[in-house]
Amino acid sequence: MADIDPIEFRNALGSFPTGVTVITSKDADGNLYGVTANSFNSVSLDPALVLWSIGKTSTSYNAFMDADYWNVHILASDQEAVSGNFAQKGGDKFVDIDFSEGVKGVPVIAGCAAVMQCQIEHQYEGGDHIIMVGRVLDFNDSGKAPLAFSRGRYARLA
Ligand SMILES: Cc1cc2nc3c(=O)[nH]c(=O)nc-3n(C[C@H](O)[C@H](O)[C@H](O)COP(=O)(O)O)c2cc1C
Repeated sequence: MADIDPIEFRNALGSFPTGVTVITSKDADGNLYGVTANSFNSVSLDPALVLWSIGKTSTSYNAFMDADYWNVHILASDQEAVSGNFAQKGGDKFVDIDFSEGVKGVPVIAGCAAVMQCQIEHQYEGGDHIIMVGRVLDFNDSGKAPLAFSRGRYARLA
């Protein structure tokens, strides 16, 4: 088996264009969490299931491992700054963010292309990540154009 260089592997994965999401949650003490994630994908239509994965070195890792509810925000093309905000490590990321409370008080960020409010269904081991599968309890689709991410850069769809 050939040695896999993690950086080269990451670059190769970057040739697969994705959207950009922010996943939010709230712990039992009321602390809010959010991370930028492009590992999001659809899983099932009936039941409605989606997935994303969280890195085990993420500051929010324990909070998401314990979370029963989390919300997926598919970012709109004008939300690059929101992506950058939630890609920061730790700290209060909600200071400059316009949001409301959704199911179980989990933050719903304003102005997104789509939002999916989820309850955890499964957690799977995934190497240096944990794969989170959530059941969609409610969703909203604004029709706004999505933000894209490809080869380490933000992009807009033509
Ligand atoms: C476009 C983009 C996609 C990302 N996708 C993921 C992802 O799918 N899973 C993940 O754990 N981190 C992902 N990250 C990195 C996290 O957003 C970053 O590590 C963040 O600092 C985590 O926050 P925390 O340490 O406060 O939990 C992504 C970052 C960017 C910019």
